[in-house]
Parts: sequence; structure tokens; C-alpha cells
Amino acid sequence: MAARTQGRRAQLQQAALYPVDWLEERSGLVGGLKYFLFRKVPGDINWMQTLGSATLTAFLVQTITGVVLAMYYQPHPDTAYESIRQITNDVTLGWLVRGMHRWGASVFIILMFLHMARVFLFGAYKYPRELNWIIGVLLLAMGLGEGFTGYLLPWDQTAYWATVVGININGTAPFLGPFIAQFLQGGAEIGEDTLSRFYSLHMLVLPGAIAGLIVLHLHLVIRLGVTSPPWSKDAAGSGKVDPVPEGRSGLMRPGPRGSVTK
Ligand code: HEM
Repeated sequence: MAARTQGRRAQLQQAALYPVDWLEERSGLVGGLKYFLFRKVPGDINWMQTLGSATLTAFLVQTITGVVLAMYYQPHPDTAYESIRQITNDVTLGWLVRGMHRWGASVFIILMFLHMARVFLFGAYKYPRELNWIIGVLLLAMGLGEGFTGYLLPWDQTAYWATVVGININGTAPFLGPFIAQFLQGGAEIGEDTLSRFYSLHMLVLPGAIAGLIVLHLHLVIRLGVTSPPWSKDAAGSGKVDPVPEGRSGLMRPGPRGSVTK
């Protein structure tokens, strides 16, 4: 009896794993995911090192709620405000999705700053992670751009005048300022063309660029490994590092440029 139950369990297990094996054999995706989820990190990492993943989660929430909002929002001066009112009052759970997107924007930006502060305090921007810091700076600028372009979309008084102020501030930047202001405004005054422009930047250009940069950012995190906290004996700049895993020498051992690593 026990043997028969065990046999059935094995059969069930095999049936459940069949699609996973099928996918792995043809794509290697499952192995890749396992490598990503179960890779080794220093033993003394800290809760503060979850801030990057928290930022990623906030970005995903913004993406999902944004896609839902885009199904109902109408980017035209005559309809924008009314469509937002409709989302809030008439669409099922629209108030929740809109609220999550609106408050989530602040959460995303606050988390980005906290994550950047962690990276700075842990010295994780130092060699060999400078490029990841530079990518982070681009992510920060684009994240702020998302906040700025999204603010106009409700097309109410606050949105309108905040955008007037924002565009005028951009216009005061040396050399490129007037061109940026002209590009953002898309005409002699803030109107129909500005709204279309901001909508396109907010829901296509910037999220696409942010998603691409996040992929690159995470690729570098995996390639270079995670930095130990400053109180660790393996902290960035201490000269001591974990042994280089087989087959990846030269990628993970921080050392002077040109030095030979095994
Ligand atoms: C959309 C925004 C961002 C996302 C989703 C993101 C995500 C992540 C994740 C998941 C990690 C690995 C875990 C961790 O260290 O927390 C990481 C590491 C890192 N991030 Fe970000 N990040 C973002 C913005 C930034 C910004 C604004 C900077 C700095 C200007 C930055 C610089 C770095 C660096 C240098 C590392 C490597 C840290 C280490 O090796 O310990 N990131 N990021």
C-alpha cells in the first residue's frame, strides 16, 4: 500500500515537473532563473541591501497600475480631467489603482534615494562598480522625470501650474535649458501638444528606458557580486575579497587596474 502511494507521488511529481523540464531543455531559462535566485552573496549582508529589490518592486507596482490606468485615461485637454474623475469615481476599484499609482510614485522615488544612500555609505560605488553607479544616476534622473511628466496628466490647476514652474526652471539651465523647455512644451504655451508629449514620455519612453537600464543594472549586480557592509572584514576598499569563483576570474576581484587576478 505504502509503495503504491509512493509510486503515485513520484508519478505526480514527474507530471508536475514535465513542463519545467521541457522549458529548461529547450531554453536554459530555468537554470538561468535558479542561478539568479540562488547565487552566493556575502554571509554578513544587511537588511539595507534589500532596498534595491524594494525599489524594483515599487517600479513593478507602478508599471502594473500604470497599464491599468492607461486603459481608461484620455490624454487630451478636453477629456483628461474627466477621465481621471471617472477612474476615481466610476471604474471598479479605480480609486485604489489610481491611489496606488499616485502614492507609489513617491514611494518609488524615496526608495531610490534610500537605496542610493545605502550604496554610498557602504562604498559600493567604488571599483569595480562605478559603471553600476553611473547607471543608477541615469535611473534616478529618469525616475524623477517620470514624477515630473506624470504630474501634468490629471490636467487640473495644480498639475498645470506645477508644470509651468517645472518647464520654466528647466528653461533657466545654461546652454541647453531653452531647448529642453521648448521640447517639453511643444509649442508657444502649455496645451494639447504638451499633454501628448508628457503622456508619451511618461508611459512609453521613460518606463522603457528605465526597464532596459534595470536589466543592465541587475546584470552588473550579478556579474560583480554584492558588496559587504563597511564593518565587515571584506568591506569595499579593505583589500580583502572573497575567492573568485571558478571561471569568472577578473570579474569579481576588486584590485588595482592592470593587476593579474587568477
Ligand atoms: C529604478 C531604480 C533602481 C533599482 C530597481 C535598483 C535595483 C538594485 C538592486 C536590486 C541591487 C542589488 C541589491 C542591493 O544592493 O540593494 C542594486 C545594487 C546597486 N545599485 Fe541600484 N537600483 C536602482 C537605482 C540605483 C541608484 C539611483 C543608484 C546610485 C546612483 C544605484 C546604484 C547601485 C549600485 C552601485 C549597486 C551595487 C551595490 C553593491 O554591489 O552592493 N542604484 N540596485
